[in-house]
Order: sequence, then C-alpha cells, then structure tokens
Amino acid sequence: MDNLWIVFLTAIFSSTIILLYRNRSRIRSSPSSSLPLGTLGWPLIGETLEFISCAYSDRPESFMERRRRMYGKVFKSHIFGSPTIVSIDAEVSRFVLQSDSKAFVPSYPKSLTELMGQSSILLINGSLQRRVHGLIGAFFKSPHLKAQITQEMESYIQKSMGSWRDDHPIFIQDEAKNIAFQVLVKALISLNPGEEMEFLRKQFQEFISGLMSLPVNIPGTRLYRSLQAKKKMVKLVGNIIQERRNINQPSMVPKDVLDVLLNDTSQLLTDTLISDNMIDLMIPGEDSVPVLVTLAIKYLSDCPAALQQLTEENMRLKSLKAERGETMTWSDYLSLPFTQTVITETLRLGNVIIGVMRKAMKDVEIKGHRIPKGWCFFAYFRSVHLDESQYDWPYQFNPWRWQDKNISSCSFTPFGGGQRLCPGLDLARLEASIFLHHFVTQFRWVAEDDSIVNFPTVRMKRRMPVWVKRRRDHS
Ligand code: HEM
Repeated sequence: MDNLWIVFLTAIFSSTIILLYRNRSRIRSSPSSSLPLGTLGWPLIGETLEFISCAYSDRPESFMERRRRMYGKVFKSHIFGSPTIVSIDAEVSRFVLQSDSKAFVPSYPKSLTELMGQSSILLINGSLQRRVHGLIGAFFKSPHLKAQITQEMESYIQKSMGSWRDDHPIFIQDEAKNIAFQVLVKALISLNPGEEMEFLRKQFQEFISGLMSLPVNIPGTRLYRSLQAKKKMVKLVGNIIQERRNINQPSMVPKDVLDVLLNDTSQLLTDTLISDNMIDLMIPGEDSVPVLVTLAIKYLSDCPAALQQLTEENMRLKSLKAERGETMTWSDYLSLPFTQTVITETLRLGNVIIGVMRKAMKDVEIKGHRIPKGWCFFAYFRSVHLDESQYDWPYQFNPWRWQDKNISSCSFTPFGGGQRLCPGLDLARLEASIFLHHFVTQFRWVAEDDSIVNFPTVRMKRRMPVWVKRRRDHS
C-alpha cells in the first residue's frame, strides 16, 4: 500500500514538473513579448473574492493599486471565472479598444449575454455592429433630435421638479432615474408617459434584476423571470414596429431610434433584431445618466465654491434668455463652460463605468505584453482617472482642473473609446446639464449624509436625500 502511494505521489510530482517546464518553455518560445506578471490566485475562483471585497470598499482601485506596485500597470489575474489581463495603462487600453473584432470582442458575464441575446448591439461584432452603432450615433447627433429631445427633457424635468414641496426631502437618485427612463424610452420608441410607459418600466426593472444572476434558465429562477419580462417588452415593441410597417411610408425625418433602424436599407436588420435591440439599448442608458446626475449633486453639495460658480453661470444664462424671450437650446446647455467642467470632473471622479471587458480572439502583443487567445482583457478606467501622475490631488473634486486640460486624451475615457465609444455620450451630457440648470436655478438645498457604493454598480447608499427650498430670488 505504501509503495502504491509512493508511485502515485511520484507520478503527480513528475507530471507537475513536466507541466511547469512545458508552460515555461511555451512562454519563452515568444521571445519578443511575455505574459504580464501577476498571479492567477486560487483554483476556479482565482482572485475574484479579493477583487469583490475591494470593489465593495470606498477604494475599489486598491485591488489594482497593490498589484501595480508588485507587477506594473499591466498584470495577469483570474477574475469572474476567466484568466484575465488587467490594464491600468491608458495606452495599452486604448490600443485594445481600437482593435477590431478579429483581435478582441466584448466579454460579459453569462447571465448578461443570455438576457441580451446574440443580436444585441452590446455583443454583435464586425460590419453589423458598425452599422447599428453608426446609425444610432448619427441619430443622437442629428439637429432634429437635439431640438426635440431638449424640449422633452425640459418638460419631464419641470414636471418632476414642479411637484417638489418646500422643506421636504427629495431622493435625487430616484427622481433622476424616473426622468432618465422617460427620456430614453421617448428617444428610442417615442412612447409618452402613461400606461404603456409604466408597463415597460415595471418589466424593465424585472428584466435588469437578472443581469447579475446565476446563468440558470428554468422556471422559477431569476434569469427565467427576467427573460419572461424581456419577452413582454419585445412584444410591445414588436406591435409598434408592426403599426409603423403598416403605414407603409417611411417617415422622412426619423423621430426616434426605432425609425432610424426601420428605415435602414442595408437589409442587415431584421424586425426581431430591431425589437430586441430597443430593449438592450435601455441597459447602458437607463442607470448611467441618473448616477451621473446624482454624483454631480453630491460633489456640488460638498464643494460650495463650485456650486456657487455653477449657479451664477446658469442664473446668468436664464436671465439672458428670459430678457430675449428665447427658450434654451441644446447648444445653450452644452456651451455653459463651467457646467461642462463640473460634468467632466464628475465623470472622472465618480467613474460611473469603472472599465470595460474584452476577450482576445487570438494572441495579441501590446507594448511587450502578450495577451493569450481566449483570455479576458479588463481595461480598468477608474485607476487611470485617479492616477496622481495624471491628475493632481486625484481624489479631490476640482472642476477647475479642466479649464486648461484636454478631455480628449487617452487618460480620460468615461465613455470608452474606439469602435464602441458610447453613442449616447452627448445625450448623457445634455441630460445632466438640463437637470443641473433647473435644479440650481430653482432650488436651494441641504443634503443629508450619504455615501457612494461602488459595486456591482455605482450608486448612493441612501439614494441621495436632499431637503429642498424653492428660490425666491428668481422666478
Ligand atoms: C453617464 C452616462 C454614460 C456612460 C458613462 C456611458 C459609458 C459607456 C461606455 C464606457 C461604453 C463602452 C462599452 C464598451 O466598450 O464595451 C458605452 C457603450 C454604449 N453606450 Fe453608453 N454611457 C452612458 C450613457 C449612455 C446613454 C444615455 C445611451 C443611450 C442609449 C448609451 C448607449 C450606449 C451603447 C448603445 C453602447 C454600446 C456601443 C457599442 O457597443 O457599439 N450610453 N457607454
């Protein structure tokens, strides 16, 4: 029996040595680049637990920071079930984001890909992705949409703020979320607030609660319920598509993203792809803008000098417009210089999206680092945005830093970059500008204590309660 054990242990020992040797020689066989330093952690779970425990803290980037000191700005790890190359090197991340789908494709948790389906814009690649991305991006930049959406955003915001009562608490996060959903659904499928909108909102909440669930799709599971909710939403959009197809005459000026995709003549877009994508497009837009607005108000509440300058700038424009009897336009909002620096600084410090994930489709070499085929690549923007070699006093909210800084550098990527640069970025900035304009010109407020939670998504722990009082100094 003892002999058997010795044979068994010797076999394991020698095969381990052979495996180690083979791995070493494989890495050496690529002389120009090597796998980044780092550790893959425990079997199966890798370093996921440490990543998550840091992510829940108020310094999620401490996971990256510790490894940067040991291994440099690009290192290997094993998180969320996959060996991963993590990059907090802005140049390396930019290279990956600019690569095409032959080198890298998006990578999301399995529950998310199940919910989105194979034809979702967030998952498709190549010419189809470029086509859909281009159409949506162009529509969000069109003068017609800009004029229309500015008015609609104003009316939703005014309606919401009109119901606020003096000396009562308002939960900024909830208010912003409510408004952002209305704006999004209007821009996508032209639905107005009402019964159908409420139905959609309810189903959408059910749908997204499965985004981070176990990937098990059987009746009773979270994922199953989410998929059922998606089916109901797709059906509603399908009916709208049918109504528009029945009209049989494409609208000359598309009034929403649905029109844009229906009018496309490339033959690439089926009705199923379009209706699925109307729902999937709500995922990136629904939560990010309210978080941006909420964080801006949190930072302003803690920085009276910035709040004062922002208020003065917005008051000036409001008076000017009133004097001239003009209404505010898209470009009025986006040309408020200090307001824009406040939004930019909020995007930097708040890191609404901490980073993006890709999967390597072949072995890729960047700046001497090898990214093996099949591995994930995690471009972690948060560490770059909080890097003191890029930003003085990076943890301080300092909108003035942007007065002489270039926002189009690769060390500032809140909206990603390359092929998948967020097509909703102007819309997001506009919505935040309109909200801030109406909030600071109509109200004074006192914020209650609240703190930022960073995982699984960024949000305020108590939904940012503020006590509001209508300004008497300005009608
Ligand atoms: C503060 C607000 C927002 C932030 C910080 C943000 C951030 C991002 C980032 C980082 C990406 C890149 C994802 C990747 O490379 O894998 C992205 C993609 C995307 N965003 Fe946004 N986003 C915001 C608002 C919006 C809005 C309002 C919409 C409107 C529908 C939108 C629609 C999209 C879409 C469709 C994509 C995917 C593009 C593609 O893969 O081709 N986003 N966003």
